[in-house]
Amino acid sequence: MTTPVSDDFDTVLVVDFGAQYAQLIARRVREAHVYSEIVSRSMPIEEMVAKRPKAIIFSGGPASVHVEGAPQIDPAVYNTNVPILGICYGAQLIAQQLGGVVGKTGGGEYGRTDLAVTHRSVLFHEQPAEQTVWMSHGDAITAAPEGFVVTAETPGAPVAALEHRERAIYGVQFHPEVVHSERGQEMLEHFLFEVAGCRPTWTHSSIIEREVEAIQQQVGNERVICGLSGGVDSAVAAALVHKAIGDQLTCVFVDTGLLRKGEAEQVEDTFRRQFKIDLVHVKAADRFLGALAGIEEPEAKRKIIGETFIRVFEEAAGDLAAGDDAPRFLVQGTLYPDIVESGGGDNANIKSHHNVGGLPEDMKFELVEPLRELFKDEVRAIGEELGLPQDIVWRQPFPGPGLAVRIIGEITPERLEILRNADAVVLEEIRRAGLYRDIWQSFAVLPAVKTVGVQGDGRTYAYPIVVRAVSSDDAMTADWYRMPYEVLDRIANRLVNEVPGVNRVAYDITSKPPGTIEWE
Ligand code: XMP
Repeated sequence: MTTPVSDDFDTVLVVDFGAQYAQLIARRVREAHVYSEIVSRSMPIEEMVAKRPKAIIFSGGPASVHVEGAPQIDPAVYNTNVPILGICYGAQLIAQQLGGVVGKTGGGEYGRTDLAVTHRSVLFHEQPAEQTVWMSHGDAITAAPEGFVVTAETPGAPVAALEHRERAIYGVQFHPEVVHSERGQEMLEHFLFEVAGCRPTWTHSSIIEREVEAIQQQVGNERVICGLSGGVDSAVAAALVHKAIGDQLTCVFVDTGLLRKGEAEQVEDTFRRQFKIDLVHVKAADRFLGALAGIEEPEAKRKIIGETFIRVFEEAAGDLAAGDDAPRFLVQGTLYPDIVESGGGDNANIKSHHNVGGLPEDMKFELVEPLRELFKDEVRAIGEELGLPQDIVWRQPFPGPGLAVRIIGEITPERLEILRNADAVVLEEIRRAGLYRDIWQSFAVLPAVKTVGVQGDGRTYAYPIVVRAVSSDDAMTADWYRMPYEVLDRIANRLVNEVPGVNRVAYDITSKPPGTIEWE
């Protein structure tokens, strides 16, 4: 990706020695309002320098510096005069490459650990001499390289922090980027502002300004189309592009009939009425349901929905193209984590991006991707700043195939209606209990089997609803959400009493792995 070498923003490079760690550090740097970019450790040092970084941070990583093939970096990086901070593995690497000793102490420290500051350091400026930090290491630095000062220790790490002030090279064995390191964010900020002299100019309003300018430059007077899914990314992308080019933008919203209750109305309301965006609302429920009739197999459902979506979208775009000024650009809500290389360059393992609305690759559009440098939290923040409703900005993720993968069995209008109503009850009660933002995803599932119940004087024979709620950071792993009993009770009562066709409720307590978040 292109680096914004701009005089308005300072850039911090986060060298990737382990993908999750690098992303979290990059996000923390952005939270300090400094632009950060993740780079591979194999990127030539001249290329790093060409990005004019104000600082370079080495991330942690799962490896030990002692294993064969342990990730390295060209030591030329230490002669660039760019301030360096090594975190965990990154600190050990600095120690090892500059002549210190990393010992196989055998003990290791994992989790909350007491840190004692033993020497004045700008990193710990105005912080208590004793504090809690988060550790996760086996090996430990046992001797700092020549010229370095040891500034902190823990019971299992005699060199928990080290620095060479003149050369502006710092290392910490613990993880300042995780919330369990109580003063960690402050330490990072001390490094960024006091050591590296970064300016905190990467603010939400400046991000918007900059993206607006970039969009205007890219598209000029041409027309642009944008597919809306009802989710946060496409909504924020559309709002940004609209701010930049106003009525040159047309949005296309395909109602698949597989959306949640009230979703289509909300998209209309927000984009057409509030933002006055030119919106083409394609009501294609019959077409999707027709194509899905008789289909039970999950992957077959996905394939049919994907193909139908593309066809419907293409037709809508084709209608627009038939006018005098055919759109030349297509907006896509790609985020930074979608494109960031993970694994550090030696495996070009780029995460595949399965957006709903997954766009036809052979369509002759140039892409506008105004979110491709942003993390999800930044997207939400600028969505709020652009005036999008909280409901959209904080919406939980929703799968592209929608409710189709939450009806286990054939999709029929009757089952969709039941599931839509059940899902609305689940979400309403979770919102009312104030849990919505705490939960990664929460929803209802309808297995197409019937169970016997008794209601009033009669026997019922109706569908069960499975309630699913999980906590997660990235959907790769998830834990079932410990929902308070009272909330579960209210949900169950309301489902059975208010949603015709439902007579039983179960709560899914499977984590991922071995389960998945969705049922199909
Ligand atoms: P699973 O069920 O695999 O889901 O644990 C992980 C995340 O991906 C979402 N998901 C999908 N998103 N198209 C999408 O756009 C799909 O076919 C699809 N399947 C699952 C799911 O909601 C969760 O956030």
